[in-house]
Amino acid sequence: MTQTRTAAVDDHLQRVKDFHDADASRYRADRYHRETCEGLAYVTRRQIVLDMADAKPGRVLDVGCGPGILTRDLLRKGHQVYSADLSIEMIREARHAARAAEGPGSPHFVVSDASRICVCGDRMDMVLSIGLMCYVKDHRGVLAEIRRVLRPGGVAVIQVNNIRWPKLYRALVPLYRRLKTFIGAKRYNGLDFDFNFSSRKKFLDDIVESGFQVLHIEHYDFRVPFVDVLLPRLSVTMGKLMFGGRHRRFCRCFSHGLLIKVRK
Ligand SMILES: C[S@@+](CC[C@H](N)C(=O)[O-])C[C@H]1O[C@@H](n2cnc3c(N)ncnc32)[C@H](O)[C@@H]1O
Repeated sequence: MTQTRTAAVDDHLQRVKDFHDADASRYRADRYHRETCEGLAYVTRRQIVLDMADAKPGRVLDVGCGPGILTRDLLRKGHQVYSADLSIEMIREARHAARAAEGPGSPHFVVSDASRICVCGDRMDMVLSIGLMCYVKDHRGVLAEIRRVLRPGGVAVIQVNNIRWPKLYRALVPLYRRLKTFIGAKRYNGLDFDFNFSSRKKFLDDIVESGFQVLHIEHYDFRVPFVDVLLPRLSVTMGKLMFGGRHRRFCRCFSHGLLIKVRK
């Protein structure tokens, strides 16, 4: 039974890794441009994460670092950065990005699964987990690992999808992707693994039960599903307006992403 479960986890990790290895060289150009609704979500996410992050330079672990977009920002702010990712190609891109950062410290890179990160316990002042949880089957295992590496009183910024009705979400996502492929807006090659589409409530409960204190929550990604594919320009305008009003309850109903700042 345990062996079957381990094989299933290994198979999942391998598929996630293969997808990101193939995605590494195009990730930055593909995701981070303001003139699309998806791009706006990535750009604003980065902005909020940097606002939420500790200003005081310290030791920071960027887990699921991807091609090092935040790694580079953190280096520029003078942090001592440890960047971990499952994908060796993402780590290669992150190394490359870090070379252009010109921060005072040199970063450390680790190819590692987020549930077994090769850094000592009680060491980090801050951990960032951005865009990671939806790829992780056992998010409680990753939360435990984030808690292990943080020093007492250290903070983490954890990004999760803002899902209220997981069943509906799981039913609509394939249709949404098919529509995007059909009109030529995006291709989804290699996404042959299950995403973790747990509800926001489940994530928040698990964060608290893992021993974290929630300090602050920010909303971002105001895509109106299907409308953003069919009427992209209107969607970008709406997305910008809703981002501006994101502290209002009405706008929050439309957000797809949460950034949760917690303390150990
Ligand atoms: C969507 S990218 C996010 C990149 C970056 N954090 C950003 O903000 O742009 C997700 C990253 O998580 C990594 N990842 C997925 N599952 C992982 C795991 N179990 N352990 C470590 N990294 C993982 C992927 O390889 C990928 O680079």
